[in-house]
Amino acid sequence: MKVDGKDWRTIWVERLPAEGEGGAVGIIDQTKLPHRLETITLSTLDDAAVAISDMLVRGAPLIGATAAYGVALALRDDASDARLSSAYDTLYATRPTAVNLRWALDEMLGLLKPLRHAEREAAAWKRAGEIANDDVAINRQIGETGLELIRSIAATKKPGEKVNILTHCNAGWLATVDWGTATAPIYRAHEEGIDIHVWVDETRPRNQGAYLTAWELGKAGVDHHLIVDNTGGHLMQHGMVDLVIVGTDRTTASGDVCNKIGTYLKALAAHDNDVPFYVALPSSTIDFTIDSGFDIPIEERSGREVSIVGGITAEGTIVEVQISPTDTPTANYAFDVTPARLVTGLITERGLVSADRAAIAERFQDRIGNA
Ligand code: MRU
Repeated sequence: MKVDGKDWRTIWVERLPAEGEGGAVGIIDQTKLPHRLETITLSTLDDAAVAISDMLVRGAPLIGATAAYGVALALRDDASDARLSSAYDTLYATRPTAVNLRWALDEMLGLLKPLRHAEREAAAWKRAGEIANDDVAINRQIGETGLELIRSIAATKKPGEKVNILTHCNAGWLATVDWGTATAPIYRAHEEGIDIHVWVDETRPRNQGAYLTAWELGKAGVDHHLIVDNTGGHLMQHGMVDLVIVGTDRTTASGDVCNKIGTYLKALAAHDNDVPFYVALPSSTIDFTIDSGFDIPIEERSGREVSIVGGITAEGTIVEVQISPTDTPTANYAFDVTPARLVTGLITERGLVSADRAAIAERFQDRIGNA
């Protein structure tokens, strides 16, 4: 995506490994946004693991791409089986919910394990690059699928009326390598000149909506308003939302959708108000090994994320502020599950798919068993 005239991706190769020198990967440090657009270099397996667990990178597809590069970084001085499996374990332990992490690690292991040790490092860099490039192409395709949906709603509008889309968390280009999942249809519709407006849930506790989605949409010139998390129901009751589009960290074989905490409440409100509720995802986010959404591991994060809010002063200093009594106990479930019955459809790289077992199996026949 372009930011202030410059093309960006969220992750890129800074240096491929050469004689006597390891490779390096660049990322945007998302913990600094929207206040500063800073990049950092990942040179080791641990750099990649910490970038994922501390959420310098986040969002299911980007977690997967970073893990793939993490494997490549891990093989610098040691491409043995033992190193490969310890890299797998280290990266796999970073975050539990987004299945793209396991998917990318399995891709890497499946490719590298049969190779001779001497061939592994170069092959890992090549495959990680392909995973990143594929993500961009897949999201672009998700954009085309979702564009048709937005176009059909726009066709029902009177002149001057906008298509109002509500989104939760950040399933934008920052959550992927580029384009985003939930935002890909939005960016495509914007490019096509369709009059759209986005309601951006702030998404407590980490405020990915406020910090990241609002920043992205602002930089892209997409009309939007930031709202507090509890506003969606009110907007839907008053006909102010035409459709909801969210991303997902893991969708089961039966179409249950796990996404950022609060997604389920938006789906309930959408159901009660006959507002279409769509989920945008690449097929690497479907976990064919799990049937019920309640079998998905839900990440629990530090209570600090609940009781402390970060911001920036007028002087440009990034600060953290405690908002509850310091001894208040907190609970911080990072994701929830929206049952398939509340999902109008899945926006995928292979078109619109119903959130049900048969439709998913039919469209992604070739992926079953690879999961
Ligand atoms: O905790 P995060 O910021 O990694 O959570 C991100 C989300 O929940 C996204 O909606 C999801 O990963 C889909 S990203 C295209």
